[in-house]
Amino acid sequence: MNIPLGKLYGVGVGPGDPQLLTLKAVAIFRKVQVIFAITGPNSQESVSGGILKELGDCRARRENLLFSMAGSMEERIACWEQAAQRVTEVLAAGEDAAIAILGDPLIYSTFGYLRRQILRRLPEAPIEVVPGITSFQAAAALRGEPLVENREILTVIPALENSGANREALKNTDTAVLLKTYRNRDDHIRQVIETMAPASLLYAARIGHNGAVLETDPGAIAALPADYLSLLIAKRTADA
Ligand SMILES: C[S@@+](CC[C@H](N)C(=O)[O-])C[C@H]1O[C@@H](n2cnc3c(N)ncnc32)[C@H](O)[C@@H]1O
Repeated sequence: MNIPLGKLYGVGVGPGDPQLLTLKAVAIFRKVQVIFAITGPNSQESVSGGILKELGDCRARRENLLFSMAGSMEERIACWEQAAQRVTEVLAAGEDAAIAILGDPLIYSTFGYLRRQILRRLPEAPIEVVPGITSFQAAAALRGEPLVENREILTVIPALENSGANREALKNTDTAVLLKTYRNRDDHIRQVIETMAPASLLYAARIGHNGAVLETDPGAIAALPADYLSLLIAKRTADA
């Protein structure tokens, strides 16, 4: 007899504060048999998994999925394939599983790769995505000013490199959110200032975690250590 496939949930857990988990996310984590969290090669503890520590009454088995940030694409792909294989095994055994994803699962997230790999192995796998609050929404909320209003344009840039494409995007937007700025943060700030002459700049690090930082002064930002969990928000015009 064939075992019916388990269901997979890609669940956004928000940027850090467990209070920003949705009721739907909590209900899913409490009902599935397995919760997967994503870890990097240098972190034993997953950031997204840590947000779930306060989930009382949750009997799911916890498993980590290792994701490589290696320069080599082969190494990364090998990691994604291994992770997808493990999730596929759980679904094929008829267990429901949730993958805890930092912020929202559909915004620059490893969930996208995993989903494709899982569907390649198990095309009929039922997958549901549960949205989460993104890091930049939470950072904007701490500042309390609108990100965009009326006809203003919001652009989200994966700012790993300081590229010409970024410059074009910055020229054509009212508000820019720069994620993944940790490698070249100060170059990004220089580029944002030259290109947008922003009325305001916000650096937000470790939002919702211990040691969270919000800073608006470029000189003070430059003195801060680089942090993977950090972003920039630049607004062209001042809040009226
Ligand atoms: C791979 S992207 C994931 C984005 C995530 N899916 C989201 O919806 O926010 C990782 C980047 O998100 C940003 N980020 C995630 N959590 C953050 C936090 N708690 N504080 C500041 N930035 C954060 C950083 O720019 C980090 O380099």
